Amino acid sequence: MPTKKATIPLEVIQQSNSRTADLPEGLIALFIGATSGIGKSTLKQFAQYAVRPRIYIRQQDCRPARRTPQWNPSATYEVIEKDVSLIRETNDVVEYIKSKETKLDFLCNSAGFLPMSGRIETSEGLEPSMTTRFYTKIAAIQGLLPLLNAAQHPRVVSVLAGGQESPLVEDDLDLRKPGSFSLIKSSTQSCTMLTLSLEHLAAENPKISFVHSFPGLVDTPLLARGSTGIKNLLLTWIAMPIASLFALRPEEAGARTLFYLTSARFSGDASNGVPAPASVEDPATDTAARGVFLVNDKSQSVGDEHVMEELRARGMDKKVWEHTMAIFKGVLGPGVN
Ligand SMILES: NC(=O)c1ccc[n+]([C@@H]2O[C@H](COP(=O)([O-])OP(=O)(O)OC[C@H]3O[C@@H](n4cnc5c(N)ncnc54)[C@H](OP(=O)(O)O)[C@@H]3O)[C@@H](O)[C@H]2O)c1
Repeated sequence: MPTKKATIPLEVIQQSNSRTADLPEGLIALFIGATSGIGKSTLKQFAQYAVRPRIYIRQQDCRPARRTPQWNPSATYEVIEKDVSLIRETNDVVEYIKSKETKLDFLCNSAGFLPMSGRIETSEGLEPSMTTRFYTKIAAIQGLLPLLNAAQHPRVVSVLAGGQESPLVEDDLDLRKPGSFSLIKSSTQSCTMLTLSLEHLAAENPKISFVHSFPGLVDTPLLARGSTGIKNLLLTWIAMPIASLFALRPEEAGARTLFYLTSARFSGDASNGVPAPASVEDPATDTAARGVFLVNDKSQSVGDEHVMEELRARGMDKKVWEHTMAIFKGVLGPGVN
């Protein structure tokens, strides 16, 4: 499985993205995590190129300063004011879209933050950085499967840490036992559980293309979120300015994310999306073993199949799925599949 492939230059990606205008008119897209950073840049570029798209944006509050500018007068935008660190409110987003639409072409989810102040719990008893990075990503996809499967070429892009999968804390998947939780562990656990769960969804929904991307270091407000007091000052005044010297601009990360949403290279079907640029590899040879494209900050196919194989061999794919469904049932009641 994926050996590292060639970098895809930004210019190639920008050229491909400009052809988003050639995709069918009236694409319907849901962006979660697009109030800021990578998601906001992806949304902006999608809105600029797409023809008459209908765009839903999940946002936690709708203060006028945060309202979406009209990047494209032919687009319609609708903001859904919900908190996706909560499973119940994510389910509200799902139900709202279901009440308005009969299909969903694109779901792009880049919500997430780092737990700088250790483990806290939401009103649902879950740790919110893991909820935004993993649980509600899956809750949104799962709830929207009927609409995604009703679209001609549905695509789901999750921005987190594709390719960085690693062994799990197997007996404490949501890291609630004393001593289990740390910033690093919550990140690797969220990434690995996300890839395993996307594989499960990909196996049951072959029509949908799934991408799990790692954006690399990107100059966004991410680091300052979730930290308070002296940590926040140190991050804001020292770490972030230094990091930004080496970081990608959000515009590049957004362009790459739009490429994952629209290019045929990430579908395994040459007719699905903007034709893959001639200079990049054959999409068929790039498909991840289990139907999920794992890509890094240079849009190279990545992933350690050895790690994934070991997890699957010990039944962790099934265990993670059952654990996640039990969490959803605990919050939403027994109707969840
Ligand atoms: N930037 C990087 O260097 C980097 C590196 C590796 C991976 N990533 C991953 O890429 C994703 C996007 O990061 P970014 O850099 O674009 O971050 P960002 O600019 O901070 O944006 C994060 C998004 O997540 C939402 N979000 C954050 N905390 C939330 C909470 N408690 N509840 C609900 N929504 C919340 C935010 O919505 P609100 O504004 O409404 O809170 C925002 O739209 C994250 O999952 C991050 O872990 C980023």
